[in-house]
Amino acid sequence: MIFIDACLGKKTPYTPVWMMRQAGRYLPEYMRVRGEAGDFLSLCKDVERACEVTLQPVDILGVDAAILFSDILVVPMEMGMDLRFEAGEGPIFDNPIKSQADLDALNVEKGVDNLSYVYEAVKMIRSKLDPSKALIGFCGAPWTLATYMIEGKGTKNYAVSKKMLYSNPQLLHAILRKITKALKVYMSRQIEAGANAVQIFDSWAQALEESAFFEFSWPYIKELCSYLKEKYPHIPIIVFPKGISAYLEKIDGDFDVFGVDWSTPIELAKEKLGSKYVLQGNMEPTRLYDKDAIDVGIDHIYSVMKNSRHIFNLGHGILPDIPVENAKYFIKSVQKRTKS
Ligand code: CP3
Repeated sequence: MIFIDACLGKKTPYTPVWMMRQAGRYLPEYMRVRGEAGDFLSLCKDVERACEVTLQPVDILGVDAAILFSDILVVPMEMGMDLRFEAGEGPIFDNPIKSQADLDALNVEKGVDNLSYVYEAVKMIRSKLDPSKALIGFCGAPWTLATYMIEGKGTKNYAVSKKMLYSNPQLLHAILRKITKALKVYMSRQIEAGANAVQIFDSWAQALEESAFFEFSWPYIKELCSYLKEKYPHIPIIVFPKGISAYLEKIDGDFDVFGVDWSTPIELAKEKLGSKYVLQGNMEPTRLYDKDAIDVGIDHIYSVMKNSRHIFNLGHGILPDIPVENAKYFIKSVQKRTKS
């Protein structure tokens, strides 16, 4: 699997490439299967259809890795929180966590067992996926999950979670500890079901000032990485803390690949982290609206990374109105341009 070789820093015939959110709404084939399932959450729980949409970008675009189709929020949902997705609004928890009693009502053991549809999907995907392609499992980072669990929905300023951070840090740490405990089991079970690598998404790392990031986000990610590395040393771990370019030199931990978001100059990431970690990323996702912009984006990243210790990706998820033809063009162009 060239993707796994690249994660481990080995030389590959070209730079492997995939896209965050590659199984999603820009693909008419995805919309058809989601329609058959009923809605997004039903699709996440439908093992055969989740498998089908996971494989779509591999078949349609020729990406080098598949990422499990699911969502980071199924973990708190199965621990006991009521989750729904409203069109135009995104995810909503109707019973956000406000107190220790709310947190005590969540059940880690039951949650990770209820997620059996995820482990079954991983198993089915691995059995159907071309053996040369890797399957990436994933979870949300504790801090990013906690923001949704505390706010009850997406937020612009994270006011509710940050109010807790400053006024009741003990409760926030208790929430983060409980999520981390669940994620250790959840990721282990994905790996045991057949995931070849795992990615931890800390999409809302950017909400935190430096001292808060290194108290409430990063230590929990590190704890999860160390736990998984010790148990599964051969499984590459990718971390994606978004929006923390100012703290790159302070980043360390037991992981293999650092996901660079689009706002971080790739040169800077290479200078600060390139010798310690393989880098993944980081083309600006809206470049996919225009083929010339794609060419310029690829050329720039390739001129910095060459085909060495790098995995091509976008610097965040693909947007729902990107033309499929342009997504295909991006994947093919990377595979051609980076051939050595
Ligand atoms: O990357 C993939 O193709 C795998 C599947 C995947 C989804 N969500 C499917 C999805 C992954 C890895 C995620 C991760 C996820 N989910 C993150 C972290 C990554 C990131 O983008 O920052 C976050 C923050 C979430 C929470 C979430 N899920 C939000 C905020 C939304 C709504 C926003 C939106 O894009 O509409 C979702 C819904 C969601 N998750 C969709 C998909 C394909 C769209 C649902 C639909 O089909 O209508």
